[in-house]
Amino acid sequence: MDNIFKEEILVSKSEREKKNGHKGTVLWFTGLSGSGKSTIAKHLQKRLFSDGIQTFMLDGDNIRLGLNKDLSFSGPDRLENIRRIAEVAHLFSQAGMIALCSFISPSKKMRDLVRNLNAPCFYEFFVKCSLETCERRDPKGLYAKARKGEIPNFTGISAPYEVPENPDLILDSDHKSISEIVEEIHQFLKTNQIL
Ligand code: ADX
Repeated sequence: MDNIFKEEILVSKSEREKKNGHKGTVLWFTGLSGSGKSTIAKHLQKRLFSDGIQTFMLDGDNIRLGLNKDLSFSGPDRLENIRRIAEVAHLFSQAGMIALCSFISPSKKMRDLVRNLNAPCFYEFFVKCSLETCERRDPKGLYAKARKGEIPNFTGISAPYEVPENPDLILDSDHKSISEIVEEIHQFLKTNQIL
């Protein structure tokens, strides 16, 4: 950090928010692979976009194909994956946008890191879905591979997922439809004066 000086910005976050007509914030979807994080975020984004809301989606698989393609699924690399995303999400919310972030983010430590960087403009949404259901859905065939021992450190099988203790919202994707969940989030955003 030696010889680095923070540059003053002349367009503030609140000016951007005023122009956009909504808050800049980070919505963080955490849950097992196959729980529906990305599907929910995608449909929510479509709904918000059609209402003229400025949004951007950051998704685990997509980010790991680009920015974070140098990272594995080891504990330290997963933490670095989330640390970088926390910073990127922060930039989007500073830009007055709603950043929809879907990452397994399996540990409390990771999620606290994102919250600490982005609070108070941060909401943790736990996409609650049993391992049995995720494994039955297995949209990418990864659980089958993990059961055969072909994927090391697979969350829920050979690596832990710490269930969030105090999320801002629990989205029960085991029992509710995507449209019901999108509606629930929309209501939450209104209640919390983000929209
Ligand atoms: S995180 O644990 O570091 O937050 P992230 O959300 O970026 O994970 O990436 C998860 C996606 O990577 C999964 O949806 C799945 O498609 C893929 N994946 C590949 N290997 C693993 C693994 N060992 N554990 C979990 N997901 C994996």
